[in-house]
Amino acid sequence: MKIGIDKIGMYTPKQYVDLVELAKHRRVDPAKFTIGIGQDKMAVAPLSQDAISMAANAAAKILTAEDKAAIDLVILGTESGVDNSKAGALYVQKLLDLPNRARVLEIKEACYGATAGLQYAKLHILQNPTAKALVIGADIARYGLDTSGEVTQGAGAVALLVSAKPKILALDLATSYFSEEVPDFWRPLNQMIAEVDGKYSNEQYIRFFKETFADYQAKTKYGLNDYAALTFHLPYTKMGLKAMREILPQVDEAKQNELQQHYQQETLYGRQIGNIYTGSLYLALLSLLDNDAILQPGMRIGLYSYGSGAVGEFFSGVLQPEFKAQLDPMYYLDLLAKRQKLALDDYEAQFTAQLDPESENQALTDDDPFAKYYFAGIVDKKRVYKAK
Ligand code: HMG
Repeated sequence: MKIGIDKIGMYTPKQYVDLVELAKHRRVDPAKFTIGIGQDKMAVAPLSQDAISMAANAAAKILTAEDKAAIDLVILGTESGVDNSKAGALYVQKLLDLPNRARVLEIKEACYGATAGLQYAKLHILQNPTAKALVIGADIARYGLDTSGEVTQGAGAVALLVSAKPKILALDLATSYFSEEVPDFWRPLNQMIAEVDGKYSNEQYIRFFKETFADYQAKTKYGLNDYAALTFHLPYTKMGLKAMREILPQVDEAKQNELQQHYQQETLYGRQIGNIYTGSLYLALLSLLDNDAILQPGMRIGLYSYGSGAVGEFFSGVLQPEFKAQLDPMYYLDLLAKRQKLALDDYEAQFTAQLDPESENQALTDDDPFAKYYFAGIVDKKRVYKAK
């Protein structure tokens, strides 16, 4: 039985910071940000968009009434959770009017959460072939003003509808994972910004990639020549390329060029949005599918997921005959083009305001035409989400 990604949807908030402007403001050569890091813009979430509302907005883009009726598993992968106990996915279930006869939960392991959700969903569909599962990765990446990680911030969500007979990507059965406690990136309780050992995190990302790719190769016998493209968790768009360069010598020059050309297509959305943590790998996949004219049904795509702390996983899937018909690239072109550039003063003021969760205790509104749902504030200590 084929199981995999039937639909994929994305949401990112309407505000962004121009990174050339930010570089000049921070007295950094803009080329460091645009070439050295590989980022042009970063999405900034207003108070009215948190991980829950962004998750609901990403899923709303793809779900039909028929899909909703068939969903019996909802998983939110996030490290920007809004409650220490309750799963954010429960708010998403309610906002989207999904069935109550469903298993609804949240998974946390840094940027790996959505991949854990996808693998759980794969096994769930194996047991329940007529059901559908909704897996969403949604996050706000915050490192702090004038830190080396600042240029890699971002915000957004990617929703995956997982089913049998998937129309986009049928996942291969094998998968390779590797976990080890490493202090590369973490966010202590009650802290809104991450702690990170930047250079060390890059090394761990690459080490875990080499481990999982080699293990997958041994398990499946797929060599690098068997993949049309490799997709990566992209904390910034240079990162995946650094990892891929480690294995490119395994193939001839023509194949190396091919893989690097496909790689450029997978970075197009991330370049304009930034790190969305759990959703980043799937944002890269969506960017590749939406923008790469060369991809054809039957081609195999590799996926590398990395969550600091750390867990890495390499797996793959095969593009399905109808995959192009499931995509809506013009919608995302429009969404990205219609965003508003934030003045740097406004960005810094918003960032500082968000470090104090109490400041969320107000009646919020949201005028983003691409957002159906928003966070409206806190009443009697309860979070209120509204549909427009
Ligand atoms: P940094 O120290 O400011 O930058 O921080 P750098 O000095 O390493 O420079 C970056 C690149 O720019 C270098 O290229 C420079 O040569 C180049 P590279 O050697 O890497 O190829 N450069 C220039 N290029 C052109 N013109 C110039 C110029 N100047 C320099 N004028 C760092 C960079 C990524 C460490 C920092 O931004 C950071 O700490 N980011 C956050 C952590 C991160 O993203 N880590 C990635 C791996 S861990 C991960 O992916 C998990 C994560 O998503 C969290 C989770 O799982 O939840 C982060």
